[in-house]
Amino acid sequence: MSETTRYASLRNKIDNEVLNFVRLQQDLAERRLVWESRPSYLEFSFNTACNLRCVMCHQSENPPVVKAPEGRGEALLAWFGEHGTVWTPSATSEPLANDPAKLLAFCEQHHLFLELITNVMLLKPEVIDKLLPRIQRLTLSIDSHEREVIERVRRPVKYDVLVQHARYALARCNEASVATNVHIVLMMDNVRVLGDFIDWAAELGARDVTLLDMLDNTPQAAQMSVWRNLPAETVHEHIRRMIERARVRGLNLTLEIPAPLGGRYDHQPNIPRAHSAAVIEKLHDVNARAHAGFCPMVSNYLKVEPDGTAYPCCRAPRELILGNVWKDGIDAVWNGAPMQELRKRMFSGDLPKPCVGCYVVEAPKWDAEARGFTKRAPKPTS
Ligand SMILES: C[S@@+](CC[C@H](N)C(=O)[O-])C[C@H]1O[C@@H](n2cnc3c(N)ncnc32)[C@H](O)[C@@H]1O
Ligand code: SF4
Repeated sequence: MSETTRYASLRNKIDNEVLNFVRLQQDLAERRLVWESRPSYLEFSFNTACNLRCVMCHQSENPPVVKAPEGRGEALLAWFGEHGTVWTPSATSEPLANDPAKLLAFCEQHHLFLELITNVMLLKPEVIDKLLPRIQRLTLSIDSHEREVIERVRRPVKYDVLVQHARYALARCNEASVATNVHIVLMMDNVRVLGDFIDWAAELGARDVTLLDMLDNTPQAAQMSVWRNLPAETVHEHIRRMIERARVRGLNLTLEIPAPLGGRYDHQPNIPRAHSAAVIEKLHDVNARAHAGFCPMVSNYLKVEPDGTAYPCCRAPRELILGNVWKDGIDAVWNGAPMQELRKRMFSGDLPKPCVGCYVVEAPKWDAEARGFTKRAPKPTS
């Protein structure tokens, strides 16, 4: 493709992304059930392979690897690529277990950016160097700063390799103004040293850390859950220490846990590289506050597993399955009966059970309140 053709195609794509956001505004304002807008974010991987077997993850049960049927993934990316912006190439799997050159080629072809959430082991310096221009945000899943804990929880991680890869990747992203995040899943193994984790992460080069509440994805979840094994006040004390260390180290901290401590604790500006993915993300942030109560993922996200099962969000509760895009067709799922029912419930504030109290739907409300953002009066339902 010549430079001129490439530029024209990029300009056309950016117009489509903005037009898609405008259509979303119309869909929301008119309280439509069948939408003209499409997702800006897609979570999809060609397979479910992972190189690790972390104890809190579904992969610990050694599920068989599922692959998308030949050509289907490519068709999904082409559909998404017309209006979409950010691709998360995961399926409760490791994105870098795919060929990074293939990921890059799809991004180039459809002008997409990557939300790369990785366990770091395959993130060699040459891989981050190659992918860097196409990364919207790099998230490193680490879970502990203690060698013995990491190597036991995220097996078979090698602590020294992880630290070497993470340090290099964070430095490269920081100098290129690419947003980063470090994930730590809250569990019995790390709850007592959350504050120390922040100090360690700051020294590693992290600017943002996110504490994730552990989802009940494995048979061993009950014995790893802090909420089931410790008094809530004890858990809160450890988390308060984490908040305090983040303040002292000037690190941004997101607590994806229920109230009263859940939310964002910002201590430094995170000014991203200017490109369409950064602009679209900002627009969706503002939109989430303006329509607080309507889950932002339901408005802009689609998750498709390699077997075709589609969900409206990354948490993928079975109760919210939208259909199967390989069997029913992508448009038929995006505007199908389960999706229409979910939109109806979001508009009326009658959230399905898995959505009640979920951080994704709650956080924009806290944010909107903190900023004194006025919600538009709801239209009377006919
Ligand atoms: C399923 S992984 C897929 C991407 C990649 N393999 C990784 O580990 O980063 C996505 C994120 O989910 C987190 N995760 C794994 N098990 C979880 C659980 N039971 N509850 C909440 N988050 C979990 C991981 O730590 C990671 O940050
Ligand atoms: S958390 Fe990520 S790295 Fe760990 S087993 Fe699950 S998918 Fe693999």
